[in-house]
Amino acid sequence: MSQNDQGQRERWDAVDHYVTDHLAPADEALSAALAATEAAGLPAISVAPNQGKLLQLLARVQGARTILEIGTLGGYSTIWLARALPEDGRLISLEYDPAHADVARANLAHAGLDGIAEVRTGAALDTLPALLAGGAGPFDFVFIDADKRNNPHYVEWALRLTRPGSVIVVDNVVRGGSVVDAGSTDPSVLGTRRMIEEMGKNPRLSATAVQTVGTKGYDGFALARVLD
Ligand code: SAH
Ligand code: DHB
Ligand code: MG
Repeated sequence: MSQNDQGQRERWDAVDHYVTDHLAPADEALSAALAATEAAGLPAISVAPNQGKLLQLLARVQGARTILEIGTLGGYSTIWLARALPEDGRLISLEYDPAHADVARANLAHAGLDGIAEVRTGAALDTLPALLAGGAGPFDFVFIDADKRNNPHYVEWALRLTRPGSVIVVDNVVRGGSVVDAGSTDPSVLGTRRMIEEMGKNPRLSATAVQTVGTKGYDGFALARVLD
């Protein structure tokens, strides 16, 4: 990284901290969730606070009463999203790693959200069919943030588990710009590229993607609405 790049990163961080201090300040439950996630040795890949607030605002604007999350980690994004729900709302978050799910369940309980938000353990491609078979959904809002190679499948499952008007958000679709590497053999890049291209061709979706910078580096998210 050149000195100039380093300066740019510091600026991105400073702006994120400024914005977060004023618009998405941490409270005890959010701070405790991040601390417990780190203490358990989980990777520092939770959404940034201002991104968590964006998810919460999107869910609120949508009037979501039911939310599906794919990829829980320590439940940090889950807390932001669950707080967008009314008292009788419901969030289901899918997590492959039982150790991650345990951390997330404890964080959700500590945040007083265990009555609203539930973590289901297993590979999402196994638990998604079980959700459908069990009559779950339709979900008003879906946040996809798990193994990126499966992003095309997750969007397909999201379409089965949503309704016209539902909103789908996918995290980490830019990855330092590697999304444009057409020759990439990285399964995460391949999965994300296929997902974006399929979103564009799907007549049931209206979608876009936006690049972001900040404490989580240079990345971005995709946003889609299921059409009527
Ligand atoms: N949404 C979280 C971050 C999720 S990190 C937040 O912002 O706070 C990605 C998570 O997806 C990890 O916990 C990882 O274990 C999980 N994951 C990876 N592969 C998965 C799979 N096949 N099914 C479900 N979860 C998976
Ligand atoms: C990774 C995953 C994420 O969900 C994220 O926000 C950042 C990085 C990863 O797998 O490296
Ligand atoms: Mg992510």
